[in-house]
Order: sequence, then structure tokens, then C-alpha cells
Amino acid sequence: MSTHIAAKEGEIAQAVLLPGDPLRAQYMAEHFLENPQCYTTIRNMLGFTGTYKGKRVSVQGTGMGQPSMSIYVTELFRFYGVTTAVRIGTCGAIQAETQVRDIILAASACTDSAIPRQRFGDLCFAPTADFGLLQRAHHAAETLGLRHLVGTVASTDLFYDDRENWKVWARYGVLGMEMESAELYTLAALFRRRALAILTVSDHIVTGEAASAEERQTTFTDMARIALDTVAEL
Ligand code: HPA
Repeated sequence: MSTHIAAKEGEIAQAVLLPGDPLRAQYMAEHFLENPQCYTTIRNMLGFTGTYKGKRVSVQGTGMGQPSMSIYVTELFRFYGVTTAVRIGTCGAIQAETQVRDIILAASACTDSAIPRQRFGDLCFAPTADFGLLQRAHHAAETLGLRHLVGTVASTDLFYDDRENWKVWARYGVLGMEMESAELYTLAALFRRRALAILTVSDHIVTGEAASAEERQTTFTDMARIALDTVAEL
């Protein structure tokens, strides 16, 4: 057991999918995994382990934002021997050509967070996805016939940001705004593990369009399939 995860040794699989919302973790466990077992309920940040296509997989809620996600992922890497971490979440699109419901495979992640300054001072680290996972996710998305883009996202600490800093990121080709991936990739680098973020566009920051609750459910299911197929044959 670690401070924020109640699992005993061996209860968490080597491959873990990471939705922000713990109820999404429960939904995934109940709809996609065989024989799912809940291993933690601390703070209601639910985690489950089951099997998918014969492979042991866990799904762990992380909460919103880099500080929350960092706690769970650090404990998964440090105490539970997790080797593969795949975030599944949403983002807001900041390029005109990106559409709501698109899936973005985040090859890299910029951030406005103070976390890198605490870790690196004046040095600037480049948080990057694991290439093998990215390749597999790309292949899974093609096989499933799901529209997807590969590129850079930005992990912001402010969901409600009246400075409109997204415009700076947009000028440099960043596809979308979310709140976790930069720290996930940084932790994977530190612990020498593999990580990837798979994101669906839930809203469009330029046009104001937003996915309906029903569309969010469908796109979540598509994204979950890509993530599961990505880790199934590792
Ligand atoms: N900003 C930050 N994170 C997000 C957004 C957004 O617009 N949409 C979904 N996650």
C-alpha cells in the first residue's frame, strides 16, 4: 500500500490506463475488462485490475491537473512496478482544422506549469511520448478506422485562463490544451518507463463548439479501445 493507493503488492498490472475521472475508470473496468477487481477506493480515486484479450491491465483514476496526476503516477512507478502508463482524457482544440471528436495522440507536451522550473531550473526539458506506444496507438487507430492526429499538446494549470495563452501555443502548431500529459511524460523519463497520452477533443477553444454528453461517451469508448489495443500485445 502507498500513501494514496490502497493496492497490495501484485494487485496492479504492469500496464495501467489513466483516465482523470475515477468513474471512467470504473466504467472501463466494467465494460472492457474481464474479472475486474477494485484495488483502491482512497479519496474515491478508484483503481481496477482485470484482463483484456488475455493481458492483465489496470485502470486508475488520476484526478485533474498535473499535481494530482503526478501523485498517482509517481506511486504507480515507484511502488507498484508499473512499466506502461497510458493517459486517456480529453482536450480542447486550438487549431481551426481540428474537429470536435477527433482523437489526438500526443507525441509531446508543452506546459505553462511551474513544475518543470522546480525540477529543471533554467533548463528546458522536452516531455515526449514513448515512440513504441505511439506507433502501436497509431496502428490501433488506423485498424479501428478512427480519425486521429499525431502532434503536440499543451498541459495547462489553468482550465479557466483569461490570459488566452493558448494563442501562443496555437501559433507554434500545438493541437490542443489539456492538463496532465507533460508531467506524465516527465515522470516516465525520470523512472525510465513508457508513457503515452490519447486524447479526444471534447471542445473547440477557437469555435466554441463542444461535444454532447452522448458524443463524449462514444468518443471515450473509441479512445479506450485504442488504449487497450495499444497495451494488449506488449
Ligand atoms: N483546457 C484545458 N483542458 C481541457 C480543455 C480545455 O479547454 N478541454 C478539455 N480539457
